[in-house]
Amino acid sequence: MHDLDLDFVRAQFPALASDTVFLENAGGSQTLAAVADRIRDYLLTTNVQLGASYAASQASTARVREAARETAAFVGASDPECVILGPSTTQLLNNLALAMQGGLVPGDEIVVSAADHAANVGCWRRLAARGIVVKTWPIDRDTWRLEPAGLLPLLGPRTKLVAFTHVSNLLGTIHDVAGLTRLVHEHGARVVVDGVAFAPHREVEVEAWDVDYYVFSFYKVFGPHVAVLYGKRECLERLDTINHDFITELPYRLQPGNLNFELAHGLGGIYAYLDALGGRCPGAGSPKSRAFAAIAAHEERLAAPLLAALAARPGVTIFGDRRPLRDVRVPTISFAVAGRTAESIVRAVDPSGIGIRHGDFYAKALAAELGVPDREVVRVSMVHYNTPDEIERLIAVLDRVL
Ligand SMILES: Cc1ncc(COP(=O)(O)O)c(C=O)c1O
Repeated sequence: MHDLDLDFVRAQFPALASDTVFLENAGGSQTLAAVADRIRDYLLTTNVQLGASYAASQASTARVREAARETAAFVGASDPECVILGPSTTQLLNNLALAMQGGLVPGDEIVVSAADHAANVGCWRRLAARGIVVKTWPIDRDTWRLEPAGLLPLLGPRTKLVAFTHVSNLLGTIHDVAGLTRLVHEHGARVVVDGVAFAPHREVEVEAWDVDYYVFSFYKVFGPHVAVLYGKRECLERLDTINHDFITELPYRLQPGNLNFELAHGLGGIYAYLDALGGRCPGAGSPKSRAFAAIAAHEERLAAPLLAALAARPGVTIFGDRRPLRDVRVPTISFAVAGRTAESIVRAVDPSGIGIRHGDFYAKALAAELGVPDREVVRVSMVHYNTPDEIERLIAVLDRVL
């Protein structure tokens, strides 16, 4: 049992003192005070251009280097030069597609998935204009997962890349990234994995999974609007430079222009928080691993009553796996109610001060498959700072409005 010190957790997020119940965390999480403090401190004490010889510039350079080093450790990468920071997952994936173009020839194939957010689909689909063949990996309607059986017929000698999501931002289902990556590698192709909906909930371990590329955004992981793209060195070195031609080193050749230095420095607040949290959790392993183990156990306890309440209600369809189990899903729960639009349900919940959301969440192909009115679901997305009381409040409101 990994007990989460919820009083400690909530005290680190000033926004949680407000009356709002934040249950739209898959859209964006609340921010740690430590992150905001570090951003402010960077701007007010070391906001100068990096790389000069005077002391203030040396200090800012050291801070941004430290951000890269700590971010590499956070994602389970041993080499900080393999970590590229940027403004958003969408931008980083667009940059990756751009940098890959020189290595692709007409007739090469890329597989995208029917479960992904548009960020990991559009940039690959657009390569079709250059003669790249783009195929779609369908979602299995029985398991609501991307299954190997759906992928295998699509893999061939020309397959260069398979782009898929670690966790669907709509279904919450966790995919076996290591297993799927192994399968793709056996067919001589590379993977690019969208970890946006996974990273707030479980420990990221890019080297242990052997992924080629992995990307997510920190504004969903209790931090600022910065995203990270990890790539294996052997992959990154083959990509075209998308920075100035004379910039040849990693990660700068794939990180065009200046980073947002203050936000990069802010990331240290997330890492320090998880270490402090893990230090308060029992168990073995690093503080970060202990923190994520406690987070997973707590999230399971949050998801269970909501899934049970929805499953018990006639006319409600839960999309994705109905089991709250930590190895199966994260607590991002989407549903529809017969005879109701998703919007009408969310608007009925709004006056209670509970923030949930309706939409397709840019997982357009998946939302279209669900057969729901307006191609929209109701999504409730929890993170570890949510409390069992908040979930009980939501269930009571849903009892009233459904
Ligand atoms: C699963 C998933 N992938 C990608 C994105 C895009 O992230 P960004 O806004 O950083 O481009 C989102 C945003 O909601 C998402 O939920």
